[in-house]
Amino acid sequence: MCQIILKGILSCLFNRFVYIFGYMRANFKIYHWVMLGPAAGVTDSLTRQLARKWGADAVVSELISSDGLTRNCQKTAALLAFEEVERPMGIQLFGADPERMARAAAIAASYNPDFIDLNFGCPARKIVGNKGGASLLLDLPRLQNIIESVVKKVALPVTVKYRSGWDEKNNVAVDVARIAQDAGAAAICLHPRTKMQGFAGNADWSQIAEVKQAVQIPVIGSGDIDCPRKAAEMFRITGCDAIMICRASFGNPWIFNRVKKYLITGILDPEPDPAVKIETAIDHLGLSVGKFGPWPGLIRMRATLCWYISGLPRAGEIRSRLVLLPTEAEVVSLLREYKNELIERGYGDTEIKALDSRYTV
Ligand SMILES: Cc1cc2nc3c(=O)[nH]c(=O)nc-3n(C[C@H](O)[C@H](O)[C@H](O)COP(=O)(O)O)c2cc1C
Repeated sequence: MCQIILKGILSCLFNRFVYIFGYMRANFKIYHWVMLGPAAGVTDSLTRQLARKWGADAVVSELISSDGLTRNCQKTAALLAFEEVERPMGIQLFGADPERMARAAAIAASYNPDFIDLNFGCPARKIVGNKGGASLLLDLPRLQNIIESVVKKVALPVTVKYRSGWDEKNNVAVDVARIAQDAGAAAICLHPRTKMQGFAGNADWSQIAEVKQAVQIPVIGSGDIDCPRKAAEMFRITGCDAIMICRASFGNPWIFNRVKKYLITGILDPEPDPAVKIETAIDHLGLSVGKFGPWPGLIRMRATLCWYISGLPRAGEIRSRLVLLPTEAEVVSLLREYKNELIERGYGDTEIKALDSRYTV
């Protein structure tokens, strides 16, 4: 009985935060969504599935080249694939040519994602060198043209993810927000650092607040959210409609449910214990090997496996052994040995159930 009442209260509180999920999905009217931030080389389909399993409200693909797609590059096209369980799912594109971006968006749309996201924030040399990503922050007419061309070409909601400018002297956070809104974007996501800043210093959340004041479309805040309290702070300080968590989710998919539980109830769940982390890492590795084959599946998981155990006792030593092991079986054996050692030292195996309860509607 108590459980039913509690469930009812939680559901009411949650609905207050997110109103009608179906409406949001159809129109991209986000409200207090906790999303997985895109990360090139990290947030592949398996990682996105895990994030959804552990409570992320929506996910976005890593950035995908419009040049590669329109030139029929199979490796690029492979990045478009996703599973139904990942929905709501966005496909993110980058590029410098409006017409090519529109054609790439049409190709991406044929995979039927829930939205198309345009990247105007990537600082990587290879991308800005070809006038894509953050370099568009120095050419706002072209940026506008890209958004308009894509919006015109596809029937899906089009969102924009960007940094606040090229450098401190060229802060265009509010200008881009207005341009995106006028060009028909359904939502914008600001990571308030400049291209020149890279990941140095702190993300300046006051810029997200400014942008939120300047436009009516939903604003998603990104940058430095690494725990439930910071997530709540981001909503409070900026008034944003949704947040994205990126780096803090690497090897830590539980963060989404922990954040959401905290937002809804004020209860701060503990991090899962080491046994849960290690078993999830092993499952993730198994999925990767199953999908990509023994060697590629292992190689692409090495960094992620290290993230899963980061912060645990003797993690550094285990990491340096783990990255040298050539087979899945040997990695699993090392991780299980490590897990048993931690359990023997008193680390429990009890929190998975509490963390497994979903906070999505
Ligand atoms: C390894 C890595 C790869 C990233 N790749 C992308 C990307 O493909 N597209 C994008 O829009 N942002 C990308 N980002 C930026 C993140 O989505 C996010 O905006 C930024 O890391 C700040 O959020 P955080 O502090 O939660 O990590 C990447 C960040 C990292 C660390």
